[in-house]
Amino acid sequence: MQLTERINRIQISPTSAVIAEAERLKAKGVDIADFGPGEPDFPTPDHIKKAAVRAIEQNYTKYTPTGGIMPLREAICTWHKRELGSSYDPKECVVNVGGKHSIFNAVSVLVQQGDEVIIPAPYWVSYPDIVKYAGGKPVHVETRPEDGFSVKASVIEKAITAKTRMVILSSPNNPTGGVVPPDEYERILAVCKKRNVWLMSDECYSHFTYEPHKPYSIASVAESKQHVIIIGSMSKTFAMTGWRIGYTLAPEALIQATVKLQSQSTSNPTSIAQHAALEAMRGSMDSVPVMLAEYAGGAGASSTACAPFPESPARTLAARSTRSPMSPRT
Ligand SMILES: Cc1ncc(COP(=O)(O)O)c(C=O)c1O
Repeated sequence: MQLTERINRIQISPTSAVIAEAERLKAKGVDIADFGPGEPDFPTPDHIKKAAVRAIEQNYTKYTPTGGIMPLREAICTWHKRELGSSYDPKECVVNVGGKHSIFNAVSVLVQQGDEVIIPAPYWVSYPDIVKYAGGKPVHVETRPEDGFSVKASVIEKAITAKTRMVILSSPNNPTGGVVPPDEYERILAVCKKRNVWLMSDECYSHFTYEPHKPYSIASVAESKQHVIIIGSMSKTFAMTGWRIGYTLAPEALIQATVKLQSQSTSNPTSIAQHAALEAMRGSMDSVPVMLAEYAGGAGASSTACAPFPESPARTLAARSTRSPMSPRT
């Protein structure tokens, strides 16, 4: 079959491939543990599930505004300010169909043919393909175990060329669990500002940090907004992977462009999932420390026993998704 050059540039997400293979084996009755996706061991907290049931009963089952219902956009900004010290306005926020979709949208509207995007390695497997699909070129810079897999501003600065459009960081990192300390993050921001490069900060694992680290956002830094794109997700923090709700916080013009793209692709994220996410943002976060304690070695011991870099400064849920022999991650 003749497919576009565009689609032939990328491979299927290895995590999706592993999920599909695990389903196939389970259907054949094979008893397997699927370590493919970064999947919380926990069900979605009850108060969030109940909000979704209420949403169905109250007939919130229709189209919503493309960028998400206003109460959710407001609640995301309020939550992000309270938890991570930012100051976004709802017009600087868009709700997407999961964090991966948020990244896809932002890269699609900013990266064009020949643009370079710096991605520290080891990296989450979807970043390079999303960049390639947009026509960009992933440029990998190394992080080292002896630095706790934390990328340095000096390393990023050296990799920047006239073609660099964006730097993508995830901290805590999937797959290493490495955390970029706030002072280094600020140095990276300063480099991005100086060289006029976007800094995409993937915060999907923001709350999966262990002492001495704390949840941190570069958006808490004054004057950061014009160069920073924040990617967030309900998936890991609230054990909501299947609900598919993520968000982007960025300058208004960028948000408007992603809403335009979304309006011609997914339309709005699912109305019912948006109401569940609203409860996640407004309700209790008591489940988060419980999950963290389990991942640190309680009933979730399988995760830590398998951790690839147990000495890394932050062990994260992300790290759990990397070491299955089935998983083709880098
Ligand atoms: C680093 C990282 N960013 C983003 C995502 C996207 O998560 P979701 O699309 O479920 O919000 C994942 C999922 O595993 C991830 O590991």
